[in-house]
Amino acid sequence: MKTFVSVFVGMLFAASCISCHSSKENIGDFPVEKEIDYCRAQATLTLFSLPSTDKIPNSVDRGSSSWHYTQVGSWTCGFWPGILWYLYEDTRDSLWEKSARKVSDLILPLAYEKAHSHDSGFIMMTSLGNGYRLTGDLSYKAALLSAADSLAKLYNPKVGTILSWPGMVQEKNWPHNTIVDNMMNLELLFWAARNGGDKRLYDIAVRHAETTMRYQFRPDYSCYHVAVYDTIDGHFIKGVTHQGLSDDSMWARGQAWAIYGYTMVYRETGDPRFLDFARKVSNVYLKCLPADMIPYWDFAAQEFSSVEPRDASAAAITASALLELSTYVADADSAAFYRNQAVAMLENLSSPDYQAGAQNSAFLLHSVGHMNKNVEVDASISYADYYYLEALIRLKRLEKGCSVVTGL
Ligand code: GLY
Repeated sequence: MKTFVSVFVGMLFAASCISCHSSKENIGDFPVEKEIDYCRAQATLTLFSLPSTDKIPNSVDRGSSSWHYTQVGSWTCGFWPGILWYLYEDTRDSLWEKSARKVSDLILPLAYEKAHSHDSGFIMMTSLGNGYRLTGDLSYKAALLSAADSLAKLYNPKVGTILSWPGMVQEKNWPHNTIVDNMMNLELLFWAARNGGDKRLYDIAVRHAETTMRYQFRPDYSCYHVAVYDTIDGHFIKGVTHQGLSDDSMWARGQAWAIYGYTMVYRETGDPRFLDFARKVSNVYLKCLPADMIPYWDFAAQEFSSVEPRDASAAAITASALLELSTYVADADSAAFYRNQAVAMLENLSSPDYQAGAQNSAFLLHSVGHMNKNVEVDASISYADYYYLEALIRLKRLEKGCSVVTGL
C-alpha cells in the first residue's frame, strides 16, 4: 500500500508540473487576481501597523479596527505567517518571505517541545510547512519531523485516534477525546512519513481517519464535534459538542474541517474510501447551506433565527477544500459541481457584505471563533483569511491548468 501511495503522491506532483501549462479550466469570470490583490493590500496595512515583528495578528472585534494579537503556542499562531508565505508564493517578493521567516522562526522552537494538544499540526504546517514547501529550508524540515513525532505521542492504539485535548480529560471527564478538527493535523504526520520520518506516522494517520470515519459521523454524514472513547478497551462512548449549538447539531466549522480533512487524506493515500467519504461529508454541508452559501455558525442556529451570526471561516475552509476535491472526482459533472460551488462561495466572500474593506485590515468579516464562550463572535479571524487566500491561490492555479496543491 505504502509503495502505491508514494507512487500516487509522486504522480500527483509530477502531474501538477506537466499539466500546469497544458490546459485552462473554465472558471467563469470571477476576478481572482483582483481579490488576491485585495488580500495583499490588506496584509500590507496589517504588516506595517504592527508595533513589533513578534506580534501575531489574530482577530478583530466587530466594529473595531484594532487587531488582537496571539502568542506563540496558541492554535492560531501559524495562520499569520501562513498568510505571509502564501503572499510570498504568489508574488516572490522578498518582503513577504522575510516577514514570514521572522514569525516562523519564533514558532520553530515549539517543534522541539512536547505536543500539548493536536493543534501542533495546525501550528506547524501553516508556518514551517509552507516555509519548507517554498524555500526548502532544512531547519524547517527538521523541526517539522520533530513536531510530527511529538504529535504521534498523543496517539492511543487501543482507540485508533490521537488524543486531541489532554486538558479536557479531567475537566470534562472525556477519557480519550478526539475532535473533528484533528483531521487537519494528520497532514503533518503524512508529510513526515514521506519526508524521512517514521513510516508508522502514515499508519497512525490512516487509522485515525478510519476510526473517525466510523464513529464520529451520524447516518447523514454530519459530524459530532467531539468523539469520546474509553481508554481501556477503546470503545466509542459518545459524541458531544464543545463549540457547536448542541450535541446533535452540525457545527459549521467542524463539518468544514471534515471536508478539508478527508480530501487531504485522499490526496495522501489515494484510497477511494476517503474520496467517497469526502464527497459524503461535503454533500450534507452543501445541501443545508443558506442562499448565499456562507453557513450560520451552526447549521441548527438558522432554525432559531436568521440573525444568528454566519461563519465566514467555515466557508473559506470549505471553498479551499472543494477546489481540491473537484480535481480528484472522476466524472466531469461532479468535478464542475464542486468547483462551481467553491467559486460561488468565493464570490460571496468577496462581496462587500463579507470583505473587511475599509473597516479593518483583515480580509474578511463575520467569523465565529467560540460562540459558547462568547469569544470572537462575528469577528475577523486570521484562519478565515488564511483559507480564503489559500482558496484564491488554488483557484488561480486551476485557471492556469495547474494542480491546486504543490509541495515538498
Ligand atoms: N480548532 C478550533 C476551531 O476550529 O475553533
